[in-house]
Amino acid sequence: MNPKQPALKKTKEVEVVDEEEGKKSKSGPELLRGFRDILPEEQGRWSFVRDTVRSLAQAYTFDRIDLPILERSDLFQRTIGKGTDIIEKEMYVFTDPSNRSVALRPEATASAARAYIEHGMLDRPQPVKLWYLGPMFRHDRPQAGRFRQFYQAGFEVFGGEEPIIDAQLILIGKKIFETLGIDVQVQINSIGTPECRQAYLTELVSYFRQFRNKLPDDDKRRLQKNPLRILDSKEEVTLGLLEGAPQILDWLDEKSKEHFMKTLEFLDEVEVPYVLNPYLVRGLDYYTHTVFEFLSAQDEGDKAQTALGGGGRYDGLVGLLGGRPTPACGFALGIDRIARALADKNINPPPFPQPQVFFAQLGDAARRVGLRLYEEFRVAGVPVAEAAGKNALKSQLEVANKLGVKLTLILGQKEVLDGTIIIRDMESGAQETIDSKKIVSIVQRKLGGDAGVVAATHSPVADS
Ligand code: HAM
Repeated sequence: MNPKQPALKKTKEVEVVDEEEGKKSKSGPELLRGFRDILPEEQGRWSFVRDTVRSLAQAYTFDRIDLPILERSDLFQRTIGKGTDIIEKEMYVFTDPSNRSVALRPEATASAARAYIEHGMLDRPQPVKLWYLGPMFRHDRPQAGRFRQFYQAGFEVFGGEEPIIDAQLILIGKKIFETLGIDVQVQINSIGTPECRQAYLTELVSYFRQFRNKLPDDDKRRLQKNPLRILDSKEEVTLGLLEGAPQILDWLDEKSKEHFMKTLEFLDEVEVPYVLNPYLVRGLDYYTHTVFEFLSAQDEGDKAQTALGGGGRYDGLVGLLGGRPTPACGFALGIDRIARALADKNINPPPFPQPQVFFAQLGDAARRVGLRLYEEFRVAGVPVAEAAGKNALKSQLEVANKLGVKLTLILGQKEVLDGTIIIRDMESGAQETIDSKKIVSIVQRKLGGDAGVVAATHSPVADS
């Protein structure tokens, strides 16, 4: 992408041409394709996912890391791999004002490895366990569940080569889904070491060469550039041919086989069911040994499964980036797709406890006192709704009704002069006038345990 070539070309004052789609669209604020707003009404689900990830990350003693969204583009080019879709066509790469080639991160494992090296984390007690949550960017073809900006929560463990680590990471992912109430299928495979993979690839290429003429162009290219990627193909012809293709598991060396068997044994031990998928290779080149995915549970009908997360071991990545060779393993979950899965199941928890109190005020003097009272309620941890823009009591009560609050506080000029406030029970309609100094404690008593106290678990900056 060249910043000097804007994607949107102005033709008239009011019309622009979207060069990507070749369609005319009205000028005015409009989302870029593949980007979206996560609206207040969706935030309940998003908070539920984020809070679940955070609480499991803490329970399994992972440390939070926040990584930059922009990195040098070669960090990804070197690690994700030249023949991959991400590098070939999906990265947002541009030249920054200092003439450096930079990229919006398409994933965060490479960044985590960079941070591990750059901050000398090798000198900390190993393994180093990190987790993150944030936006990633891939200029992929947008479709259901596929966005150009999407959010991932990731877990990375550096400095441990034991298969128990692979198994525990899969267990953590599975527990996150269990807590969210989403059924997933774990698919797993081993792609061994680069050495045993080389022998396998020779065999794979010679198998597919026989059918070269039948292969779609994309897969011909894969065969030449990065043959392992052919196993990722979604083309029907290729999928048919795959059935007779050599399987990587038969080419694993003894150590790789042992690593894989132990990983599976540990999974059996903690009763995580899995499906062996000999064609699972994942879309990134840095993996070694174990690779796995969390797929939406297969529907009754023939609906395709969606990858809600995936990961694997990447023992060569830290060394590839110039650090001391360090075994590592991790996974990332697709938050957008998980939030969608919750919506499909009609799960929509409120983002925060809904306010149970509404504050109606009449006149400027009441507004002034109201401002102070509002602060008192906030300090006491009782959320209070209001409709400050409305003047008439009737329209304010209408809002209160819509919100479904239990109590409405009414403050008019007379009450301001008397130092009182009216408290109205919205269900019975009963009203009483009370000393405004006692209002917070009386409201708290009336609400009992249902004050709608906002839980302070949320850090919007860290979650962005
Ligand atoms: P990935 O499989 O490319 O792996 O992405 C992980 C998850 O992110 C996917 O399973 C999917 O749920 C979600 N995802 C990917 N692309 C999109 C998209 N365009 N729109 C919506 N959701 C998407 C990685 O990124 C590795 N870094 C995972 C990892 C961590 N491996 C080791 N450590």
